[in-house]
Amino acid sequence: MTQSGPDKNAMWSGRFSESNTELVARLSESVSFDKRLYRQDIAGSQAHARMLAKVGVLAQADADKIVAGLDEIRAEIESGKFEWKTELEDVHMNIESRLTERIGDAGKRLHTGRSRNDQVATDIRLYVRDVIDNVVMLIDRLAAGLLDLAEREADSVMPGFTHLQIAQPVTFGHHMLAWREQIVRDRTRLVDCRKRLNLLPLGSAALAGTVYPLDRHYAAELLGFDGVTENSLDAVSDRDFAIEFCAAASLIMVHLSRWSEELILWSTPMFGFVNLPDRFCTGSSIMPQKKNPDVPELVRGKTGRVIGDLNALLVLMKGQPLAYNRDNQEDKEPLFDACDTLSICLEVYGEMAPHIRVNREACRAAAAKGFSTATDLADYLVGKGLPFRDAHHVVGATVGFAAKKGCDICELSLEELQTFSALIQKDVFDHITLDASVAARKTYGGTAPEQVRAAIARARAKL
Ligand code: ARG
Repeated sequence: MTQSGPDKNAMWSGRFSESNTELVARLSESVSFDKRLYRQDIAGSQAHARMLAKVGVLAQADADKIVAGLDEIRAEIESGKFEWKTELEDVHMNIESRLTERIGDAGKRLHTGRSRNDQVATDIRLYVRDVIDNVVMLIDRLAAGLLDLAEREADSVMPGFTHLQIAQPVTFGHHMLAWREQIVRDRTRLVDCRKRLNLLPLGSAALAGTVYPLDRHYAAELLGFDGVTENSLDAVSDRDFAIEFCAAASLIMVHLSRWSEELILWSTPMFGFVNLPDRFCTGSSIMPQKKNPDVPELVRGKTGRVIGDLNALLVLMKGQPLAYNRDNQEDKEPLFDACDTLSICLEVYGEMAPHIRVNREACRAAAAKGFSTATDLADYLVGKGLPFRDAHHVVGATVGFAAKKGCDICELSLEELQTFSALIQKDVFDHITLDASVAARKTYGGTAPEQVRAAIARARAKL
């Protein structure tokens, strides 16, 4: 990118008697980060030119030159031959100026009935739309990986936690399906966001609309928009869609961060529930034995960035009067950061999740600790006619006894158990094992392997 100081030839310089200082130019430029909108900017300009020709504002020959010239500029950019100039401020003026350089006067007619305000609003909508389509695909891949993992581990017993204390046994497959539910909801939020953003702002011009008889619906159709925005003042200043996207992205990151926290804990020797493949971990430069779960740690860390991006956009917008204000240029870096960060985190999780290796024995051994089947003993007593509250009390005393003795309740003898309730019979041992405990939780959405398999079948049927 060329860097240069004051330029009295800036496209808007007609009324100015002096140029910006080099310092102001550095503050104003956005091309260093908005050049990534080049594809959307070119598509928007091509649609605008075609539309102008259709309504007779532009000669068809000029529109054809513009469309072809922009195709060539796209190729220049993609082959790295395009020279981006900071003195041309932004992606829009860089491309327009190069177009005029290449095709002459026709290039100067492109901006008829248009402003950079509705141009940039269009570009960002197109950009976020593309990102959403890609992110939805990444979510689908990740969700499919979790489904496969859930199926493999449908019968694997692990401790379920509340307060991070062992609560009741659950199946590992059930836990993976819980993760999957989170991103399935996230997907619906993105699809919903896409619906609201998929309206064309072009034709709003600077803020008030334009004197030319534009066919906004035709341009919308060319760009794959579902319709056009309703109000020109709103359309040039609205960044709700960027905020909605960042909100949805933040929530996805929060979900990935929660999974990360679990994976980090589970891969310590104290838990030992899972092994992450080496390719997702790193070692220590000093401690040769270390295998660190860097991928989940980084994802957990990057969550803060995306939440920060959302916050930046909310604060950016909160003081703005209608309509466009230059503040809006500051929407791009946080938005792009959220797009990039979310995409790479989803992609890496999509690659890693199906390869999480579960240590079934360690999971089972942990589930056997902490009196995780105490509720099952209470439910057993309820089955024998005892009111639940009384059963709860009996089991509490039984657990206290076992804890003192240093064993689990299922390791107590029948005689010992019977000292707490005469209702306890030999069949109690069919109810308080780990497998019996999970198998019994067969309410819809419950942890029983048969329910996990049913949930997987429902999820597959929906695909
Ligand atoms: N680079 C500007 C932005 O991103 C484009 C719109 C500039 N409009 C203006 N009136 N200065 O917001």
